[in-house]
Amino acid sequence: MTSLPIGLFDSGVGGLTVLKALRSSLPCEEFLYLGDTARLPYGTKSQETIIRYAVQAAGKLVERGVKMLVIACNTASSVAIEPLQQAFPDIPVLGVVKPGAAASCAATENGNIVVLATESTIRGNAYQREIYNIREDVQVTGLPCPLFVPLAEEGWTEGELVEGIVARYLNPLFSSPLETAQRTAPDTVVLGCTHFPLLAPSIRNVVGDGVHIVDSAETTAQEVKKVLTDRGLLQKKTECGGTLFLTTDDISRFARTGSWFLGLPIEVGDVELVDL
Ligand code: DGL
Repeated sequence: MTSLPIGLFDSGVGGLTVLKALRSSLPCEEFLYLGDTARLPYGTKSQETIIRYAVQAAGKLVERGVKMLVIACNTASSVAIEPLQQAFPDIPVLGVVKPGAAASCAATENGNIVVLATESTIRGNAYQREIYNIREDVQVTGLPCPLFVPLAEEGWTEGELVEGIVARYLNPLFSSPLETAQRTAPDTVVLGCTHFPLLAPSIRNVVGDGVHIVDSAETTAQEVKKVLTDRGLLQKKTECGGTLFLTTDDISRFARTGSWFLGLPIEVGDVELVDL
């Protein structure tokens, strides 16, 4: 069991930002990553559809054999974590929302948090619920930013055009007159979608230096390590583990765009086409 890979899935290549953090904190582990690129985006779909897609994607990983499931997609984590835990009771199932909520509660000083995510994640209120479970004294605003997903998938992450789109979404919260802004503007921005870390430099340029930008990837990696340690499931070998990628659509596109998110080249030979 300890030698089985950790399974992760996302609607596309966004979850590779989570894989990047996992590979750096658990270098000896093997990983099996599935990007359901044929059906991206999940974030504009209904809850029923997202649950169905998530159970199918996770089912493919479990069929191949994984010791743990990481839902590397905020949209699927928000609405499908319980159905997935019920569908796969024999392995630990972890999402990215809880770790992201915990990180934002630790970061905020003025108690004003804004969550940037897909429409479906915001509509489901999962972030708001998790944050209020940890801290009742904060104020949480959910802001759907659906255009960030295709921008990141296209590799358009910086420049005037991208910052203009970021500003169009964020300015209503951040461009109040100074004295009002000091009292009310959020001091913490949660990147509540695994695609959004690629836009972090543009988001930083729009919100300024004084704002914490929280990415759940690091906290998720810590949580995964804790779960594996507690259950005695950590890889025993000490040499570096590898990653196999599964995609439901074009392999070359997955390898090309995926490498931006992973921060490393992905070889086409390490990607397999699967049908769900
Ligand atoms: N990466 C997914 C997330 O974290 C969103 C992308 C999509 O809409 O499919 O929510």
